[in-house]
Amino acid sequence: MSKTIGLIAGDGIGPEITEATVKVLNQLVADFKYIDIDLGGVAIDKHANPFPDESKAKLKEVDAVLMAAIGGPKYDDLPREMRPETGLLGLRKELETFANIRPAKVFDALAHLSSLKTEIVKGTDIVVVRELTGGIYFGQPSSNDGETGINTMVYSKEEVKRIARVAFDFAMKRSRKLCSVDKANVLNVSQLWRDAVTEVATDYPEVELSHMYVDNAAMQLIKDPKQFDVIVTGNLFGDILSDEASMLTGSIGLLPSASLGDGSKPGLYEPVHGSAPDIAGKGLANPAAMMLSAAMMLRYSFDMDKEATMLETAIQEILQAGITTADLGGSAGTQEIGEAIHKQLETALSKA
Ligand code: IPM
Ligand code: MG
Repeated sequence: MSKTIGLIAGDGIGPEITEATVKVLNQLVADFKYIDIDLGGVAIDKHANPFPDESKAKLKEVDAVLMAAIGGPKYDDLPREMRPETGLLGLRKELETFANIRPAKVFDALAHLSSLKTEIVKGTDIVVVRELTGGIYFGQPSSNDGETGINTMVYSKEEVKRIARVAFDFAMKRSRKLCSVDKANVLNVSQLWRDAVTEVATDYPEVELSHMYVDNAAMQLIKDPKQFDVIVTGNLFGDILSDEASMLTGSIGLLPSASLGDGSKPGLYEPVHGSAPDIAGKGLANPAAMMLSAAMMLRYSFDMDKEATMLETAIQEILQAGITTADLGGSAGTQEIGEAIHKQLETALSKA
């Protein structure tokens, strides 16, 4: 049966990279259907709401959601509940995508672009598993009366155990090493986190589990990133560490992510990068991270492993051949990248 994809083209460079991504998706799978969904800035412009009911309703008709990026300077002065980011948080909550999977893999051909020494980053291949629908992003009480600002970091044991299971499952498919990051020397919520992860570990005797405080983890990621394989952590720590991990790779323009729930609702796939308003509309944006996010969608939501690998390989091949956008030191535009990948796929498909 043909699958329906909810497409959030969003703001800034979003529409350009979406167009390039849909082209290669259609090349790989003939019968995808698409439904456009407004979120973020465009939704504020059209509906005065970053996540309008109309968009919420469309989620019921789709099998997965593929998003480009949202936000921009135009919306910076809006109150928090009206900001594009609030729309994204609402979408994650609505879809109950509690597990955010953020791989940070250093491509050999691009290792020299990292701000760290090549010998430190080369070979780095990390997956950050970030809890996405709990923690301090959503905990109550939360307020700001002008004198006192309050946010609350809350995790229930069950919330921690379910994200831990996702991380252990990833570790089982990789090198069987899992590092759980917390701040258990200071925070009660982190002690509970640590105890809950340790409890889940008894179901995964083959996985070597370690615990690390978040400040040390931030340091170790820069000092010796290759010591990590799968990292599991809470919402806020994961937000920070995944940006840090992304920079090891030289460009945030290459990093995809998947946000998954228990499977009863569609998964959400989005690049880690933002809407890059400075280059929007110029045809310069790198579509690779969105395409790699689409590959994750093929794999995790549609079980299309073969097509996912084909797309990932095609992207890797053009990078290897030096066809890159400016963020990676090249001079190709969005369309050129799209066409180069299209060509690689054409060859791969004719051999398949
Ligand atoms: C991310 C972003 C979001 C987050 C913002 C835009 C709400 O930084 O996806 O990492 O903090 O989760
Ligand atoms: Mg972030």
